[in-house]
Amino acid sequence: MSTSLFRSRARRLPLPRPLGAPRAEARALRVRLAGRTVLSEVDLRVAAGEVLALVGPNGAGKSTLLAALACDLPAESGEVRIDDLPAAAWTPGELALRRAVLPQASELSFPFPVEDVVRMGRAPWAGTPAEDEDEEAVREAMAAAEVTGFAGRSFAALSGGERARVSLARVLAQRTPLVLLDEPTAALDLRHQELVLRVCRARAAAGDAVVVVLHDLGLAGAHADRVAVLHEGRVAADGPPSQVFDAELLSRVYAHPVEVIDHPRTGDPLVIPRRDGQGFAV
Ligand SMILES: Nc1ncnc2c1ncn2[C@@H]1O[C@H](COP(=O)(O)OP(=O)(O)OP(=O)(O)O)[C@@H](O)[C@H]1O
Ligand SMILES: [Mg+2]
Repeated sequence: MSTSLFRSRARRLPLPRPLGAPRAEARALRVRLAGRTVLSEVDLRVAAGEVLALVGPNGAGKSTLLAALACDLPAESGEVRIDDLPAAAWTPGELALRRAVLPQASELSFPFPVEDVVRMGRAPWAGTPAEDEDEEAVREAMAAAEVTGFAGRSFAALSGGERARVSLARVLAQRTPLVLLDEPTAALDLRHQELVLRVCRARAAAGDAVVVVLHDLGLAGAHADRVAVLHEGRVAADGPPSQVFDAELLSRVYAHPVEVIDHPRTGDPLVIPRRDGQGFAV
């Protein structure tokens, strides 16, 4: 039968991993796109139980790195490992059970009801025991992204921020142990930006590994366990926000003078562009 063609080896389902165990890792990663080196010498890992923010200026390589960590882009040299195995060790179906990706600015416009769009996130689990969780996963993801109220409306008829939240719900419904989000807050209002980062924190608290690309350094400083700063295709810094948010480093990377102050109540680092003509000339 033709089905045996696809069943030559059973899909390996993802297993729980102890907190701190790497879910995704880039080792000496170099990626070339259209003949240009876009990432070089990238060493980065994200572990079970943590939120890693990727920040850096436009064109620094954040989306490329996220796609590489998702095993959606080939390495020119070096490698990406998922759950301690090289990317090539996993089938596409096995990868879909391990990582979910929210692309930057989704150009997709499904003419389907919101609930059906979110349910698409469950497709990788078809034929596994987790299929039984489909309805609960869809319901929970829609509640987390606050889109339950428009479950029956057409995705195509939503506002930009509403669509972004539905796309996030689709990714959450996939219930993978590695979640890769490219600028999930870009189109969102203040409340929903905070909501998305709280959802990231909740997933990490449940043992998942979360990588989130952000331009808002305040969000990164308040919610991420670690921040990796990308600059011209390389990791310029990687560590807790309090270490990484250094005025000199960020001023250089962003080519704009900034100052870093501690929030008077929470102590979270706040990065503020200097507008007083002071700071170094760039
Ligand atoms: N398909 C492609 N072919 C050639 N170069 C590309 C391609 N995609 C991206 N690049 C280049 O690779 C570099 C990194 O792009 P990337 O999209 O990863 O940046 P980014 O950090 O996500 O930026 P942004 O903040 O604007 O989203 C940029 O110089 C970009 O022009
Ligand atoms: Mg990008």
